Amino acid sequence: MLNFHSYPEIKFPDGFIWGSATAAHQIEGDDVDSLNWFKEIEEKREHLSGKACNSYVLYKEDVELLKQIGHKAYRFSLSWARLEPSPNQFKTEVLEHYVDQLRLLKAAGITTFVTLLHGSMPNWFERQGGFRKRENIALFERYLRFVVPAICEQVDFWLVINEFNLCWGETMALMQDIRANHLLAHARGYHVIKEYSSAPVSSAHALQHCHPENPFDKFDRLWAEFNDWLSNEFFFHAIRTGEIVFPGRKVETFAEVKDTVDYWGVNYYCRRVVSARSAADGEWYTATHQRMIDKEFYLEEFFPEGLSYGMQRLADKPVYITENGVCADDDRWRVVKLCMDLAAVADAIKHGVDCRGYLHWSTMDNYEWSSFTPRFGLVHVDFDTFKRTPKPSAWFYKELIEGNGFGPALIKKYLPELPEFKLY
Ligand code: BGC
Repeated sequence: MLNFHSYPEIKFPDGFIWGSATAAHQIEGDDVDSLNWFKEIEEKREHLSGKACNSYVLYKEDVELLKQIGHKAYRFSLSWARLEPSPNQFKTEVLEHYVDQLRLLKAAGITTFVTLLHGSMPNWFERQGGFRKRENIALFERYLRFVVPAICEQVDFWLVINEFNLCWGETMALMQDIRANHLLAHARGYHVIKEYSSAPVSSAHALQHCHPENPFDKFDRLWAEFNDWLSNEFFFHAIRTGEIVFPGRKVETFAEVKDTVDYWGVNYYCRRVVSARSAADGEWYTATHQRMIDKEFYLEEFFPEGLSYGMQRLADKPVYITENGVCADDDRWRVVKLCMDLAAVADAIKHGVDCRGYLHWSTMDNYEWSSFTPRFGLVHVDFDTFKRTPKPSAWFYKELIEGNGFGPALIKKYLPELPEFKLY
C-alpha cells in the first residue's frame, strides 16, 4: 500500500500489548567492561558509545517518558558486563539498580520484557573464548543464577539472548558452532528461568527474509534457501524437534533444547537480497531502495511482506514482535513504517498467527553499535545534553495504542498530504 490514506481501519486483538524496546549498551552509557566498548576503540569505529543516552543515570526519567508517550510495555536488557565486570566478581549495586528500574516500571503499570544478553557480553568472557567454546555456557549460567532469582518477580516476559541466529565466525564451520552453542545457552537459560518464574520465555530471533536477487535463477533461489536455513530454519527446527541441523555438520540432538520457547520473539526490519554470484549480498532493487539517513546503512528498504510471510511460519505458538523500526532523519518515515509493518502484522493475524504484542525499535535514538548517525527513536535524544524530545511519530504511536489500531483518519492527522519525503 503506497497511498497511506487508503489504508482500511486496522484493529488488533483485545489485550494486544504495545510498547517499545532498547538495549543496555545502546542507551546506558559507560558500559566499560563490555566487549563492544573495547572493539569500538580497537577498531576505531565511527563513534564511541561513551555516555550513549546516559540512561543508566536517567532511568527514572525514562520510566516517566514511557508513561508520557503512552507505552504499555517496555523491553530492555541488562548489561552482563556491568553486572560481572570480571570473572565471578558480581556487582550487587548494579543488580539493585535493575531491581529498582523494574520496580518503577511495574509501579507505572508497564509490562516488562527483559533481555538477559543483548550484545554487551563482558570483554573477559570473549577473551576466554566466548560462545566459541561450549564449556563456557557454564559461565553464562553462573551469570543467570546471579540475576534471575533477584528480578524474577518483576519480569513479565523473558528473552534469554538477542539475535544469536545472526552471530558470525571467521569460517562457515565456526559460525555454525557459535550459533549451535548459543542455542544451547538459550536452552540452559530457559531451564534456569523456569526454576524461578512462570513468566513466558523466548529469545529474540532476527527474522531474515532471504530474497533471491533473481527469483527465476535456480542458483539464487538455492542460495536464498540455504541462507534461510542458516539464519532461520535451524533455530525453528531445533526448538520444534531438539535437532541442531547445519549444512555439512553432524546432526546433534538435545532433548533439553526442544520446546524451549513459550512464544516466538520476532525482530524484523527488511528483506535481505542474496545473489549466488556475489561474495557479498545482492544488489538493492532500485524500485524499492531508499536511503533515509546520510550514510550507507544495511536497512534501506521497506518490505512488509517479509514480516507477514515470516510470521506465518510461526503459527504454532504465540508471537510477539520484539523489534521493528526504521532509522530515518525524516520522522514521517517512521509513521509510514509503522503503518506498513503493522498492516503486515494484521495480515499475519488474519492468516491464523497468534500475535499478541508489538515492541517498536526503538524508544529513543541511541548508539547503533558503531555510530550515533542512524536514529531509530520515537523520541529524539540530544547526545550532548541527553534531553529527550518525543517526535511526532511518538504521538502517532500513542494514539494508535489508545485506539488499539489505526486507520485513514489517524494517518491523515500525521501525514496530511502525500508529502515530499526527505531522502538522500
Ligand atoms: C538489534 C539492535 C539494532 C537494530 C538496528 C537489531 O538487529 O537487535 O540492537 O540496533 O537491529 O540495527
